[in-house]
Amino acid sequence: MTYASIKGTGGYLPERVVTNAELERLVDTSDRWIQERTGIRERRIVGEDQTCCDLAVIAASRALDAAGMKPSDIDLVTLGTCTPDRVFPSTACLVQRELGITPGAVAFDVGAACSGFVFALDVANRFILTGGARRALVIGAETMSRIIDWTDRGTCVLFGDGAGALVLEADDTPGILSTHLHTDGSFEDLLNVPWGVSQGYDKLEGSAGKLKMRGNEVFRVAVRTLGRIVDETLEANGLNKRDVDWLIPHQANIRIIQATAKKLGLPMDRVVQTVAEHGNTSAASIPLALDTAVRDGRIKRGELLLLEAFGGGFTWGSALIRY
Ligand code: ACO
Repeated sequence: MTYASIKGTGGYLPERVVTNAELERLVDTSDRWIQERTGIRERRIVGEDQTCCDLAVIAASRALDAAGMKPSDIDLVTLGTCTPDRVFPSTACLVQRELGITPGAVAFDVGAACSGFVFALDVANRFILTGGARRALVIGAETMSRIIDWTDRGTCVLFGDGAGALVLEADDTPGILSTHLHTDGSFEDLLNVPWGVSQGYDKLEGSAGKLKMRGNEVFRVAVRTLGRIVDETLEANGLNKRDVDWLIPHQANIRIIQATAKKLGLPMDRVVQTVAEHGNTSAASIPLALDTAVRDGRIKRGELLLLEAFGGGFTWGSALIRY
């Protein structure tokens, strides 16, 4: 039996720290409101010259180093993002070029907003299980600051920039045990970026093309949906809540994370939390959280990890992994 196993993880956060106090000077908000309602204390924002690809390249290099591999060992790159450098080439192709991954390997982006990393992981897993690839780089990278309306207090306090990556390799020991993806396109009104090539983005002015969210309504669907996907994932593997060692959730809001942990009966010290320091980095949030807890020694080989994400689309997904 072949599995896709995690061989190394990596992450990168831009240098510039933006605190809640800094945002108090920008919009009508307060550190207290942001911390109480979201759990966020600060977030990182890219420099003017940095792009999504730049962040992805550093995170991917660190994951390759951790795996003891070279770029030429990789035959597949899947990259989750909703803030690519360009319409094309895909950011994954730009990463392939920058890292010197073998020409002729396969590299492409996966678009599923905040669930982008879990979707990219699912695709890479399937490539490995069917023999289409042996070693894959799976990346989540975002420059959310570029699609944020910095005059909208309901959204600008939530997001941050960053990238996370992992290296998968075909292995006969587990491995990714299962992945579960879902979407529902009927919720576009609650969360979207009304900006795109076919919709004539050149006609948009000011904040018209920036991220729009009816946060309260998104919150309610997210809590409900993530509770369901936790059950689905455990049932598919014949496992019990008690079997999960670590929950590695998408880092959108501490209250959503707490609700999912409660559903699992997991104490918060078994939940990797980076939302306070990273904010919501969309597709980068789960691989960044995973890398943080691997590097600080909390997550150990052999432990059972449950990853779950929810984002614009709506999209949602999970992965159960024996690390
Ligand atoms: N500072 C101060 N007050 C604020 C702020 C702010 N930054 N933002 C909103 N408020 C006000 C509102 O105007 C409202 O005031 P009112 O009662 O006078 O009208 C009040 O606070 C309550 O607003 P709510 O939206 O009901 O606040 P809520 O507790 O729901 O928190 C939040 C808002 C943080 C956005 C929350 O709803 C949330 O986290 N939603 C889910 C986000 C998410 O998971 N998105 C999916 C992933 S993102 C992606 O895919 C790209």
